[in-house]
Amino acid sequence: MTSRRRAPSANGAKIPASKQTLIDNPPKQSSSEEPNITISPSKWSKIIFLSSLLLLPYAYLLLIHLQIDGELKRSILINAAMSFIGFLLTLKLIPVASRYVIRRNLFGYDINKKGTSQGNIKVPESLGIVVGIVFLLVAILFQHFNFTADSIWLVEYNAALASICFMILLGFVDDVLDVPWRVKLVLPSFAALPLLMAYAGHTTIVIPKPLIPYVGLEVLDLGWIYKLYMGLLAVFCTNSINIHAGINGLEVGQTVVVASGILIHNVMQIGASTDNPEYQQAHAFSIYLVQPLFATSLALLSYNWYPSSVFVGDTYTYFAGMTMAVVGILGHYSETLLIFFAPQVVNFLLSLPQLAGIIPCPRHRLPKFDPKTGLLTGTKDGTLVNYSLRIFGSMSEQSLCIVLLFLQAIACGFCFLLRWLLAGWYK
Ligand code: UD1
Ligand code: MG
Repeated sequence: MTSRRRAPSANGAKIPASKQTLIDNPPKQSSSEEPNITISPSKWSKIIFLSSLLLLPYAYLLLIHLQIDGELKRSILINAAMSFIGFLLTLKLIPVASRYVIRRNLFGYDINKKGTSQGNIKVPESLGIVVGIVFLLVAILFQHFNFTADSIWLVEYNAALASICFMILLGFVDDVLDVPWRVKLVLPSFAALPLLMAYAGHTTIVIPKPLIPYVGLEVLDLGWIYKLYMGLLAVFCTNSINIHAGINGLEVGQTVVVASGILIHNVMQIGASTDNPEYQQAHAFSIYLVQPLFATSLALLSYNWYPSSVFVGDTYTYFAGMTMAVVGILGHYSETLLIFFAPQVVNFLLSLPQLAGIIPCPRHRLPKFDPKTGLLTGTKDGTLVNYSLRIFGSMSEQSLCIVLLFLQAIACGFCFLLRWLLAGWYK
């Protein structure tokens, strides 16, 4: 949701009717009357530091440590090069798109700066639309360079792109129309339909070894229940990112951390299964979508990092969640993905009483900002953001974002540790 409804208020308060009309029917401006909108430059140095930290282990595994088939490696590297071009393009387009969205009154006020001069600045919203478009361009064009593809792969790849594209559309609709919460929750289930309808892969699950004596089977065919599970995963991934939000850099930050975890997992699985081309293909598929997601998201993060000069909108949170859900589904590693998503799972569980309406749920469940000290304090609302502040004490918005991203990285590290400890015993 964006400021089209709540522009004059930083705390989500209702807009007076007179102003509402003005916002709903923004006056047409000739180019000479256009407001002089300048977007603060991207925070390059911080993003290069963060991306090197996240990419180094992946690059080491891919380029040095693991023995990966030449053709496959070539496709991965071409995809990486295209993703880098996508990064540069996104970096270039965000300031341009920001001017357009502001002109159409698509902006928000930074709630965690309310009471300071920064809290009165109109921050362009929904810049996730740029990331989504560049991502789709890279992912569509890449098909020309995938040297190991078969026709089944192409059907699933394009169905995945259709789902992601549908999600971007619905996310943007949400940003513009400000749809109610209950509707918001189900939007991803519509977007997942292209993938669910085209899915021709297996619908079986491998029963964990310790449970085989109780189930009596090694492999269980779930049939339509498997598809239902795929749909629910898409709904969870999208909404869980959207509600773990509201702090500068958090929406995109969590995505790039999880994306780097996914890339490391994929490349390790490719390296460990040289005798199983189908399994390798499933993980390569995931890499082809996650590399562009990582690169284009980094460009957005460079503008969204504290202090944000743009907001990402639900367009981005839905797009990022759906992309990670489809790669988890088609790569057959949804359990691993859910452990990467541990902070989102915790945030969802903490949110349940408010989401279910048992406890009143305000429009924004954000911390309390003290303009005098510049610090945030946790409120009673059930979010991981508030709980972190209550556990670790009041802190600045930037420190809080770093703490939360660190927790995300710990979840990814824990997942690798768990996989290593359970290898051979669990499956
Ligand atoms: C979800 C959360 C809500 C949270 C919001 C923040 C639930 C049920 N809903 O709602 O509690 O407040 O995300 O994104 O958990 N904003 C900032 N700083 C930021 C990012 C966003 O102040 O770093 C504010 C801006 O006013 C922006 C608005 O949040 O315009 C965007 O909110 P929106 O994404 O529409 O909220 P929801 O996804 O509905
Ligand atoms: Mg949102």
